[in-house]
Amino acid sequence: MDKHAGSAIYHHHEDGAAAPSRSRGDAGARHSPWAVRLNSVTKSHGSGRAAVTALDDVTAELPYGSFTAVMGPSGSGKSTFLHCASGLERPDRGTVEIAGRDLAPLNERQLTQLRRERVGFVFQGFNLLPALTAEQNITLPVRLAGRRLRLDTGWLEQLLAYVGLTDRRKHRPGELSGGQQQRVAIARALITRPEVVFADEPTGALDTTSARNVLELLRQLVDEVGQTVLMVTHDPVAASYADAVLLLADGRVTDVLHRTSAEAIAERMTRLGV
Ligand SMILES: Nc1ncnc2c1ncn2[C@@H]1O[C@H](COP(=O)(O)OP(=O)(O)OP(=O)(O)O)[C@@H](O)[C@H]1O
Ligand SMILES: [Mg+2]
Repeated sequence: MDKHAGSAIYHHHEDGAAAPSRSRGDAGARHSPWAVRLNSVTKSHGSGRAAVTALDDVTAELPYGSFTAVMGPSGSGKSTFLHCASGLERPDRGTVEIAGRDLAPLNERQLTQLRRERVGFVFQGFNLLPALTAEQNITLPVRLAGRRLRLDTGWLEQLLAYVGLTDRRKHRPGELSGGQQQRVAIARALITRPEVVFADEPTGALDTTSARNVLELLRQLVDEVGQTVLMVTHDPVAASYADAVLLLADGRVTDVLHRTSAEAIAERMTRLGV
């Protein structure tokens, strides 16, 4: 298949129509239409004969306000894609930009700062601190940023309402259901108003109803707040909530599906041999 299939996940219009405008007030520093941009990214793990090419010349551009799913067989490079796109791993070749900023020249401290303040993460296992309340977990990224960020209490209230946890803000994770814990994690990912939220199997540990709830919430954040979301998933139903589905196989983008049904995604995955 065309190895450059991934070079145009979304078609960019000169007037910026590819990116739904964001209603939040921090867009002043934006010079790029892309929240995230990977250009010919190659990444290997291990060395010598044990080396595995996890990503092989991957190009992908995510405009602001887009919801992209990444799917593919186990070992196809999904996590590596997410790690490179979010500055958790450095590519061997190619470039990664977040909000038009090339990550390559950043040192470890600057990368950590960027991940903490400009990027949100949601994981399969929620990763909440058990001793902190829901509200304390949500506001933790702001406190970790010290003097560089101030808590926007209006945004906190809005987020609590969005994720439906206003009346459970004082509960600890152990007193919340899995779906509620994941909604705390989503609010935590959003508290700094990040350029992009990266979610790795966010519904993997949830029952069907809670999973649907979380997916509807992510979709709503994209549609109503203009949030950019990139989600890795095994689940065609989860991927059907996205604007585009990037299919990876052996570290390459083999296909891009647009706004399509779970059935069509499942059918395409079957052809990939999943
Ligand atoms: N730290 C590592 N050391 C060595 N090889 C690795 C490492 N991380 C990933 N790999 C290899 O790189 C390839 C891509 O791995 P990756 O974790 O990105 O796949 P994935 O699509 O996320 O798989 P899964 O669906 O199982 O999570 C695989 O062959 C994997 O074995
Ligand atoms: Mg993975």
